[in-house]
This record gives sequence, C-alpha cells and structure tokens, in this order.
Amino acid sequence: MINLQKLKNGFEYLDISNKSAHAKIALQGAHIFHYAPHNSDPLLWLSQASDFELGKAIRGGVPICWPWFGMSENPELPQHGFARTSMWQLSASSEIDAHTTELTLTLKHSKSSLKLWPYRFELSLHVRVSDTLTMELKTTNLDEKPFKITQALHSYFQISDISHVHIEGLGKSSYFDALTQEQYQQNGDIEFYQEVDRIYQGIKHEIRLVDIKRQIVIKNEGSSSAVVWNPWIEKCARMSAMNNDAYRTMVCIESANALEDAKAIAPLQSHTLKAYIEVTNL
Ligand code: BG6
Repeated sequence: MINLQKLKNGFEYLDISNKSAHAKIALQGAHIFHYAPHNSDPLLWLSQASDFELGKAIRGGVPICWPWFGMSENPELPQHGFARTSMWQLSASSEIDAHTTELTLTLKHSKSSLKLWPYRFELSLHVRVSDTLTMELKTTNLDEKPFKITQALHSYFQISDISHVHIEGLGKSSYFDALTQEQYQQNGDIEFYQEVDRIYQGIKHEIRLVDIKRQIVIKNEGSSSAVVWNPWIEKCARMSAMNNDAYRTMVCIESANALEDAKAIAPLQSHTLKAYIEVTNL
C-alpha cells in the first residue's frame, strides 16, 4: 500500500507498506527517512530532534547529496547541493507483488536550480522496498554541454551504540581524511572512539556494519567511493537538529561518487549510482 501523508505544516511523504517492510519517503528531497523490514528494527536512523520543515533537510534517513558532495567551490552555495531540499515528483509506482513495492521520484532542472547550477538535467530515484532496500539514483544530462557531478546516498544507519559496532570490507582501501586533509591507508576494520569523517576510495567489496545483534550489508554499483562519518561529542553538540548524545546511536556509510570517483556525463548520457541494503540478524 502507498499512502500520501501530509503533516500540519504541509510537509508531504509517502507511506509504503507491504508484507516484507515499511518505509517512508518525503517528497522533499526524495528523502527516505524510515525503512524497516518486518524481521528487524528500523535500519535507518532518524534524529529525534529533526524538524520536518520545508526547505530544510531531514536529519537522518538517506539525504541525497547532489550535484555536489560536501562544499561546492563557491562557498555561498549549500553544502551537499540542492537535491535534498528540492521538491520531487512521484513519477511511477507499482506494487510488484505482496512483498515488493517500487517507486520512482523525479527532479528536473528549474529556474531556481539553473541559478545554482547552470545545467539542464533529469535526476530520478528508483526505490525498491522489500526485505531489502534498493536505491538507484540516475542522473541524465539534458544539456548541450557536458557536466561533472559528485554525489552521495548519505545513509544514516541506526546502531545499538557506537562502541559496539565496527565496519568490515574497507580494510584494504585508502581514504581521504576530511579532518586532517591527508590521505591514509585503512588497516583492518573501522572502530569508533573519536570523530570520523573519511572518503574511502577504490572500493571493490561490499561493506558490512556489524552490530551486536545484526549486520547491515551495503553493496554499491556505479561507485568506488564511500563516506564514513560519525561526528562524535563536540561536533554533534554543534550540529543542527541533533541531540547531544545522538552520535552514539548513528553512523553514516554513504554510497558515493566523490573525489576522483566524480562522474563526467556527456549530453544525453546518464550515470546511475546504486545502493543495495540488507540486514541479517546475528
Ligand atoms: C557528511 C560529511 O557527509 O555530512 C560531514 O562528511 C558533514 O563533514 C555531514 O558534517 C553532515 O552534513 P550536513 O550538511 O547534513 O550537516
């Protein structure tokens, strides 16, 4: 079942339920802010302090960073681009079977997008809600000139406690550390005991977020970079829409095209970034 829900302030989202899972997707940003397969607690973290406000990104779920990840070269432009605060259209939906729902949301260039980024485009997010969650973010260049994008499906995952989790699958990758602005080599699993803000590169394997009772597996296609982020104590206290202790129950593993994994797209060509997320109970 797919229901359009509206909050008192006009904020609209799609409520999707089938025999395998429940999900919620805001029309602003095509922002998935809830996903729970029926055999598991929610996979996505959502800040208790998040306001569902028009023009402001939800803190949690899967914000879409596009057409740039992080800061643009022009510091006056919004961090992580404009897709996450733009209004998208539901362009297709289908209940494939009792266990599977598919939806496509679309964003096209507009007068206001052209002021921020001077290219004509179509961006679509195809979502498959079932016992796994699949997201396909397709960028099509509708302009006469080529353009280059960096992007991320900025997934916030719900965890039991930051001291109980580790990340497997990035052990042989190098990463750019946004805190020191230096390049390093990862040795072994990632554990958290301080702020972490890294772009891993040259990724060839699936990534596993291992918690006490469950493991979340992330498989990416059209991507060889991933961001791992936890703000830790001080940054968390400074962040908008985040309670002071929120860093304990979330970690971001973002399926990305960042740094040298940026994508140049020629006129009438497309690029698709795909993330496939599943959970297994341990
Ligand atoms: C991450 C960045 O992707 O997003 C962090 O690596 C940043 O540096 C975080 O703090 C959250 O960004 P924002 O714009 O949603 O507050």
